[in-house]
Amino acid sequence: MNSQTLREARKYEEAFGKMIAAGDRPAFHLSTRTGWMNDPNGFCYYKGEYHMFYQYHPYDSVWGPMHWGHAVSKDLLHWEYLPAALAPDEPYDRDGCFSGNAIELPDGRLLLMYTGVATHTLNNGGSCDIQTQCLAVGDGIDFEKYQGNPVIDARKLPPGASENHFRDPKLWRKKDGTYLCVFGNLAEDDAGQILLYESADAFHWNFKKVLIQNHHRFGKMWECPDFFALDGKQVLLTSPQDMFPQGFEYHNGNGTLCLIGSYDEETDDFTEETDHTVDYGIDFYAPQTVLTPDGRRVMIGWMQNWDTCNMSSPHMNEDLWFGQMSLPRELSVKNGRLYQKPLREFDALHCDEVRHENVAFSDTVRLPGVSGRLIDLEIDLSPADGADIYRKFALRFAQNEQYHTSISFRPHESVVKIDRKFSGSRRAIIHQRRCLVNSENGKLKLRLILDRFSAEVFINDGEQVMSVTIYTDQAADGISFFADGKVRMDVVKYSIKAEG
Ligand code: FRU
Repeated sequence: MNSQTLREARKYEEAFGKMIAAGDRPAFHLSTRTGWMNDPNGFCYYKGEYHMFYQYHPYDSVWGPMHWGHAVSKDLLHWEYLPAALAPDEPYDRDGCFSGNAIELPDGRLLLMYTGVATHTLNNGGSCDIQTQCLAVGDGIDFEKYQGNPVIDARKLPPGASENHFRDPKLWRKKDGTYLCVFGNLAEDDAGQILLYESADAFHWNFKKVLIQNHHRFGKMWECPDFFALDGKQVLLTSPQDMFPQGFEYHNGNGTLCLIGSYDEETDDFTEETDHTVDYGIDFYAPQTVLTPDGRRVMIGWMQNWDTCNMSSPHMNEDLWFGQMSLPRELSVKNGRLYQKPLREFDALHCDEVRHENVAFSDTVRLPGVSGRLIDLEIDLSPADGADIYRKFALRFAQNEQYHTSISFRPHESVVKIDRKFSGSRRAIIHQRRCLVNSENGKLKLRLILDRFSAEVFINDGEQVMSVTIYTDQAADGISFFADGKVRMDVVKYSIKAEG
């Protein structure tokens, strides 16, 4: 039974979604149907299609009572909107259906597990959220909330675990048919921890153990965990709040954390080995992964950051939509690091190839056929004169007389910087970010993917990634290259086929 709240949301998005012209939103990144989008939710492969749900406030382009928006795709690049899946309409989720995940049940139905939020007023006039875990079951379009909701509440929390910060389930099925689920939670020491629960049928859950504790090493609360095996290792992804930077790793505020280690399935012991930032740009948070039918682990994140949400511009029809997802990225683990590459099917969207090989230059150059805001651009850099390593290389894009965004590289410092200060933002928020890269003798590989309102930079075949949103007027589509010293580069540029 769909509630009145859900019916209204569905009617609203149907009417208002149509008001956004295809050319006014990203072409191959999933963006909100209307209003506001944050975290990816329920990312799964179900009956031959990928489903992506998302944190959704259809009525405004700012965060509000959370619904679940819904889209499906056959290839993770072309998305079709489906009606909103969940609305905050029950006593236990009346203030929001927060993030969660999805899994196919043995009987073929799709199960959604999400965090229900009910806000309570305190005696001192303040308020606090009670966060509980809830289920909804459906056919992939319509979902009915489970009668037994919430399935996990404060009574099933371990001692000291907060009931106010207990959210974002990610569940999976073990080979023996039982289910496990991880949650983000705030521990007694006011820092994050990941809780592990188990269930025989995905409906009745019991606390199993604290999988891992933050102990104030990486920010405070840990949101949106994902936990999976990859390339002989175990990976925990989580998005900590209130981080401090550690050298070139992490940054102030909300960030992303990847912990790689080993996992004993008998004892559920996770042993950490390495840690690093997932995305070194400005806009990337709360990623979720899916396992494709051919065994690839693919990740999509919210291409935004909580502290930078007030940067938009009239060029993107800001009243109608805000929020987009990152490109789907294929993951692998090498040398204790998580590598990310654009989903290989993305290459099928390439057209109009332009190649320039062995371009040696100092100062500024533009190359024939290299421009655009819907492009995939690969650059292989080296010094033009083997022994004499240049001081700086820069690539400017989304450029006209007034605007540009840049990626620069200083080989003597091994630092790549992304800078959107001149992208048209009128807000006093962070616009630059730096990343320490592996580079020998001035060599570096960059792959820049632009989709109207974003730039994703894959460095050294996905060893590091930097993502930013840019809301620059689409007419700014120039690209230029700059060298201080002598640079040699190979450039391949593709335009991306887009509808609208
Ligand atoms: C992360 C997050 C989640 C929560 C959701 C609310 O961005 O804060 O922890 O479930 O957003 O919209």
